[in-house]
Amino acid sequence: MAQLITGRILSFEHDPFLAGPTAAKIHDAVLVEGGKIVGLGSLAALKAHAPQAPLKSYGESLVMAGFVDAHVHFPQTAIIASWGKRLIDWLNDYTFPEEMRLNDPAYADMIAARYFSLALSHGTTSACSYATIHTQSVDAFFTQARTLGLRAWAGKTCMDKNAPYGLRDTAQSAYDQSKALLQKWHGQARLSYVITPRFAPTSSPEQLSALGALWAEHPDCLMQTHLSEQPDEVAWVADLYPQARDYLDVYEHHGLLGRGALFGHAIHLTEREKARLVETGAALVHCPTSNSFIGSGLFDLVGLKSLGLRLGLATDTGGGSSFSMLRTMAAAYEISQLRGTALHPSELLWLATQGSARALSADHQIGNIALGLEADFVVLDLASTPAIAQASARASDIWSAVFPTIMMGDDRAVQDVWIAGKCLPK
Ligand code: GUN
Ligand code: ZN
Repeated sequence: MAQLITGRILSFEHDPFLAGPTAAKIHDAVLVEGGKIVGLGSLAALKAHAPQAPLKSYGESLVMAGFVDAHVHFPQTAIIASWGKRLIDWLNDYTFPEEMRLNDPAYADMIAARYFSLALSHGTTSACSYATIHTQSVDAFFTQARTLGLRAWAGKTCMDKNAPYGLRDTAQSAYDQSKALLQKWHGQARLSYVITPRFAPTSSPEQLSALGALWAEHPDCLMQTHLSEQPDEVAWVADLYPQARDYLDVYEHHGLLGRGALFGHAIHLTEREKARLVETGAALVHCPTSNSFIGSGLFDLVGLKSLGLRLGLATDTGGGSSFSMLRTMAAAYEISQLRGTALHPSELLWLATQGSARALSADHQIGNIALGLEADFVVLDLASTPAIAQASARASDIWSAVFPTIMMGDDRAVQDVWIAGKCLPK
């Protein structure tokens, strides 16, 4: 059964970083059928095309592609906003003890359900997550995502050193378990498996090589890891791998660099690393609330984008301090301001949808309202609080109407969420 939706329907025809704000168009109506977008344009034309289709009207609200969070740690849901540490201490004191708890399948199921409930209430319709070392945490995440009908990515987070004993596997078990999970979940419903070494300090060379070999056997999978988040971490990697040219070279040496690679953070990069990332076509994921919360540094979004790299946007929950991609866009804006550039609202909205979808090589499926794409939407009330309403009341165009919601909005701005053409019940 077809369904018509009206409102201010935001669609990107181009990349606004290249084409400017006119890359985005506002349409009156979108027609969905069979989970996909089958019409976009004027209400009169779409009504003529599908006269029987029921109509859902969102008035002045913004209807856009659901947010795509390209880097989260769902197991860290309960330790979000833990005080006062930098990366390595934060991992040891908060993250690893909590990740140990996902050894219990009932706890893993509960945290996965809680994570998706929070993500959806904030308008995030797709996420790419790290699980824990435990295979049951991957099962918990994918089972929930499948039940909800979401497009989602995840992988078992492999570690065989510099982690507590309860959170270590080996080169062989990382390979075997990742492979079994990949065979179980990759391509099922809307799910994709991601090969996931946590980062160079917590994997032996043998483990990195084993996961590189697995990726070579399954090149259609993505591979995700962390790169150059904090200077201490970069120095630690140089100590652990003295023969490597730099941090990225560690991954490349073990077969973990290529177009399907997703590197989280990537703040403290050398010129050689940037050039090599461009040559290989890898994607970077910007996690701005995490970068300010853990004190990691100022990601060079404009510089790296201008090199032609694909950039996704992400919460990095729970190193990040929010489940909200609105708050994440606000933090990206603030970090870019500190580097001298004011990102345009069209660029921020694009990063949170198309940018992340491109990084995940899924822009032919999600991340935009365009013909043939999957009908995952978020509907944003652009006057969701008194503070936002009084600011947006002055708006002269769509961008000044939406910017107060980007900067000050939260889950109260999320009026509705649509998954594969169906509105989620409240
Ligand atoms: N580096 C390695 N593991 C992690 C993690 O869980 N969160 C963040 N922010 N950085 C990491
Ligand atoms: Zn991370």
